[in-house]
Amino acid sequence: MARILTGIQSSGKPHLGNILGAIEPAIKLSNEKKNESFFFIADLHSLINIKDSKIRNNNTLSVAASWIAMGFDYEKNYFYRQSKISEVSELTWYLNCFTPYPMLLNSHSFKDKANNLSNINSGLLTYPILMASDILLYDADIVPVGKDQKQHLEMTRDIAKSFNHKFGDTFIIPECKIDNEVMTIPGIDGRKMSKTYDNTIDIFAEENKLKKQIMSIITDSKGLGDKKNPERCNVFGIYSLLANNSQINDMKSKYQSGGYGYGHAKKELFELILEKFKNQREKYFDLIKNYDHLNDVLKIGEKKAKIIAGNVLARVRKKLGY
Ligand code: TRP
Repeated sequence: MARILTGIQSSGKPHLGNILGAIEPAIKLSNEKKNESFFFIADLHSLINIKDSKIRNNNTLSVAASWIAMGFDYEKNYFYRQSKISEVSELTWYLNCFTPYPMLLNSHSFKDKANNLSNINSGLLTYPILMASDILLYDADIVPVGKDQKQHLEMTRDIAKSFNHKFGDTFIIPECKIDNEVMTIPGIDGRKMSKTYDNTIDIFAEENKLKKQIMSIITDSKGLGDKKNPERCNVFGIYSLLANNSQINDMKSKYQSGGYGYGHAKKELFELILEKFKNQREKYFDLIKNYDHLNDVLKIGEKKAKIIAGNVLARVRKKLGY
């Protein structure tokens, strides 16, 4: 049995890029019998930037609702808020004392923002140690992450190895799993879909907003009668990530024969998205109406996760003589 663990940023509703690139592959992995998955919402990490508790908690619950709506089996696996397992903060302190300061100065997440030191808090510097605790506290074997997190995983491994070297086997050394095939999903302006670029398609948005986003996908200025090149069109690009082969071929030939406008293609994309995510959207809207139920679901995971965290922490305390 392999223990898979990953942290999810609580930055609100996931968009189509998150869903196809991260959520669906992670859920697929978690459904394999031989795996046991720990997916948690990193709501302590978000305190580095988000101080408003209402925003932070709403974001956390929208993320939780999205993963459940997408079919994550929270009963077979572990689904929890990072903040509810306070053991992680204690372990973070211990690991602080085993992390060489220059290692932190070297991390990209810090360096990228270090040109404006007076405006950053220490959380940004020690962020990788909290992340190491997230992983080591649950004896994780495999940690699937995006490329941008690879360095943090290497730091986790270094910290764990140095602790083990001093005190004997204590932590499992986790393997990093970078999914190189993770698709890059184009956003409505053709760049990688990302909240930062404000170019997302929000699958869990209200119908009107979703439609508006799709209608604003940027295309060239060919007129209705012109023949069009599907391979160069963003609408077609996104459509082909979701449609089946016959739908794709159909749209391709309409592009090539002329008399078919980008507005038509966008409308078809919109309808396809509504149809494809119909059940998930219904489930999401149901869940998000009922915070109490969402809280209850997370509490189930938190209860299970706390037991494991407590055991690992006891092991660490013993080694350290506390
Ligand atoms: N830092 C990760 C990100 O920005 C989220 C995260 C927090 C995480 N703790 C983790 C990922 C532990 C993997 C394992 O995406």
